[in-house]
Amino acid sequence: MKIYKAIKKDHDIQRELCNKISNTSGDTKERKELWKKLKKELEVHAVAEERYFYSPLVDSDEMQEDARHGMAEHHEMDKMIAELDDTDMSSPHWLATVKKLIEKVEHHLEDEEKDFFDKAKDLYSDNEAESLAKSYEATMNEYRKTWPDSIPGQ
Ligand SMILES: [Fe+2]
Ligand SMILES: [Fe+2]
Repeated sequence: MKIYKAIKKDHDIQRELCNKISNTSGDTKERKELWKKLKKELEVHAVAEERYFYSPLVDSDEMQEDARHGMAEHHEMDKMIAELDDTDMSSPHWLATVKKLIEKVEHHLEDEEKDFFDKAKDLYSDNEAESLAKSYEATMNEYRKTWPDSIPGQ
């Protein structure tokens, strides 16, 4: 498997959680559980994707700007996650903010899948793309176990 497919698989998990969370209401157990799952998926994915998709691209002339843009959006999502954690889950502000986060996530995944993957395919050889997928998946698996206490390799 190449890095693009490995990432796409996890994007689909995020999309499903975003859809489910949009259909919850109030300070319920269901919303709490889904929020924890979505937060975890977003945080774990951002770390693994930055290491094994974006970092090598930052050094390229062709994709430096895209890679910086993608990672800046991860940072914006982190800020929205922190805001949500500081907001009462039953308030209208929580719902409005989670909707903003979901829009941001959806736009970000589109950028990656429809634009960045195609450009990266010109820069990563097939072998590189396969080896990046292995490292990406290993970090995903490990960090899903240690989240939120520690980040693998840090
Ligand atoms: Fe991303
Ligand atoms: Fe991604």
